Amino acid sequence: MRKVLVTGSAGFIGFHLCRLLLDEGFDVVGFDAMTDYYDVNLKRRRHAMLHQSARFRCVEARLEDHAALSALFAAEHPEIVVHLAAQAGVRYSLENPRSYLESNLVGTFNVLECAREHAVAHTLMASTSSVYGANTVMPYAEKHPTDHPLTFYAATKKSTEIIAHSYAHLWSMPVTMFRFFTVYGPWGRPDMALYKFVKGILEGTPIDIYNHGDMYRDFTYVTDLVRGIRLLIDAVPQRPEDPDTTPEWDTLSPVAPFRVVNIGNSDKVRLTDFIDAIEAECGQAAIRNYMGMQKGDVPATWADATQLRELTGYAPATPFREGIAEFVRWYRDYFNV
Ligand SMILES: NC(=O)c1ccc[n+]([C@@H]2O[C@H](COP(=O)([O-])OP(=O)(O)OC[C@H]3O[C@@H](n4cnc5c(N)ncnc54)[C@H](O)[C@@H]3O)[C@@H](O)[C@H]2O)c1
Repeated sequence: MRKVLVTGSAGFIGFHLCRLLLDEGFDVVGFDAMTDYYDVNLKRRRHAMLHQSARFRCVEARLEDHAALSALFAAEHPEIVVHLAAQAGVRYSLENPRSYLESNLVGTFNVLECAREHAVAHTLMASTSSVYGANTVMPYAEKHPTDHPLTFYAATKKSTEIIAHSYAHLWSMPVTMFRFFTVYGPWGRPDMALYKFVKGILEGTPIDIYNHGDMYRDFTYVTDLVRGIRLLIDAVPQRPEDPDTTPEWDTLSPVAPFRVVNIGNSDKVRLTDFIDAIEAECGQAAIRNYMGMQKGDVPATWADATQLRELTGYAPATPFREGIAEFVRWYRDYFNV
């Protein structure tokens, strides 16, 4: 049976990925520190659902604890590692940059060290569309420059891409980096827009809308996203014998078994259309508090998902109204409202 170690297994994306992998018969080892960035009960509820499978087990520890991580690798010998644990969130990185330094840089370094020591066959790690920073050329393609991050969060994620490339090159470790675009769906994060909007609308409290609603996001439904991750597990990068033969769409490094892949819906949705759809689904109007642009924020994101489609034959496609309906159903059920 194929064994996958998923870091951040109690997190939003990690939970959905673990569920999919368990459904597909993988042996899944979780790793999560249950950090208190948001409601720990939500994380515990997600883990409790995963524990319904006898093929799931997990360790609760921090990525920065190299000894704990290393002991887990030694005990489990995972064939595949999907590293999703991180201090996420763009805005919080203005308030608490140190937690990004610790979780994202020290933590990711420890994962790479363990993957190297234990000869993991494929290491896949989460980066973000935020690395495209101030770019205005749309849709964002992986080969566009990513040298101008606007937040410390983006800077840490971009750094992990570079660090991972050096490991892939030096130790011939296959590494795939994902760049995710605004992921949403059931069991979603309380710090993200959809959750906050639904909460505000159902409770009758104002919702903050940045840049006066003149924002665009490539909202990616979580079930689609984890399907993309699952398929990329089998798209193992290999150092090219002749880099000149690498197709134009492929980001494969000329000197390492390493690629960076966008996972996005390739559909740029205006924030006010997103909110209109939430109101329709909730059957209630929002109290809209229009605000200016937030420091470090970008007005638009939009993914070019050509590479994902070429590598896997798949591209996310859930229309945002359907995804919102699923989220609102989950939210009402979870909070009994
Ligand atoms: N959700 C999105 O829209 C989005 C977009 C781009 C990138 N990402 C990236 O995807 C990954 C997963 O994001 P998510 O939305 O599931 O976030 P999440 O916060 O729900 O999940 C992250 C999990 O990691 C754990 N964690 C954090 N720091 C840790 C540490 N130092 N040691 C051990 N565990 C730790 C947390 O307890 C949490 O359960 C992250 O790397 C994030 O940066 C997410």
